[in-house]
Amino acid sequence: MECLKVQDLNVYYGVIQALKSVSFLVEAGTIVTLIGANGAGKTSLLHTISALISAKSGKILLNGKEIQKLSVDEIVRLGMAHVPEGRRVFAELSVRENLELGAYIQKDKKAVQKKLEEIFERFPRLKERINQQAGTLSGGEQQLLAIGRALMSSPSILLLDEPSMGLAPIFVEEIFSLIQQINQDDKTTILLVEQNAHKALSIAHQAYVLENGEIVLSGKAKDLLEDPEVKKAYLGA
Ligand SMILES: Nc1ncnc2c1ncn2[C@@H]1O[C@H](COP(=O)(O)OP(=O)(O)OP(=O)(O)O)[C@@H](O)[C@H]1O
Ligand SMILES: [Mg+2]
Repeated sequence: MECLKVQDLNVYYGVIQALKSVSFLVEAGTIVTLIGANGAGKTSLLHTISALISAKSGKILLNGKEIQKLSVDEIVRLGMAHVPEGRRVFAELSVRENLELGAYIQKDKKAVQKKLEEIFERFPRLKERINQQAGTLSGGEQQLLAIGRALMSSPSILLLDEPSMGLAPIFVEEIFSLIQQINQDDKTTILLVEQNAHKALSIAHQAYVLENGEIVLSGKAKDLLEDPEVKKAYLGA
């Protein structure tokens, strides 16, 4: 069953076309990765899907429902959460407050508390820092917090924009295994944008390659790992 379907999406910044007739599919329960060089349009694509910017034309379907005209709020309510590039936690707020904000669509205080406990179980490192100001967390801890915040809305699909960026190798490993766990334990569908193509292709089921705003290649992630062109352009081989 398809969870997310993007059809013929065209996005412009003024006269510059950032996405050119982009189409792709994300099957429910899978990890799909979108790889591409700096400036390829990966962030623009995630921003368009989660309604932070609007497309000039094209369709975005979430569980069969067209969402390209909806607001960020409505899309979150339909089960999509987005962990933005560069983490973007609320630096002045505590770990707890950041997480609670992630559940803003949930008005039932008890349900929020229960979710918070679930998150702390998964992220003991955040629990230890529950009252710490988010801006004073390490880069890796901020990334965990950004992911935890997104999970607070109990999404059925999670969009992740370069979660491993700028992290030490040990944290990179942790983030990728966390993404796999979220997918396996909660059956959460994942759309993962990464520059660490090797890692991303290693954990994903399906993959798409974006170049200059266009999807130029797609297939099973494990096949792309072996693809000579992909190896040359993205895997440093
Ligand atoms: N707000 C904006 N106004 C004008 N141009 C923009 C804007 N945001 C992005 N662009 C341009 O759109 C293109 C795609 O940018 P985007 O950030 O989507 O790429 P990316 O694949 O996420 O790159 P990176 O790997 O560096 O994060 C780039 O040429 C960029 O300069
Ligand atoms: Mg980007």
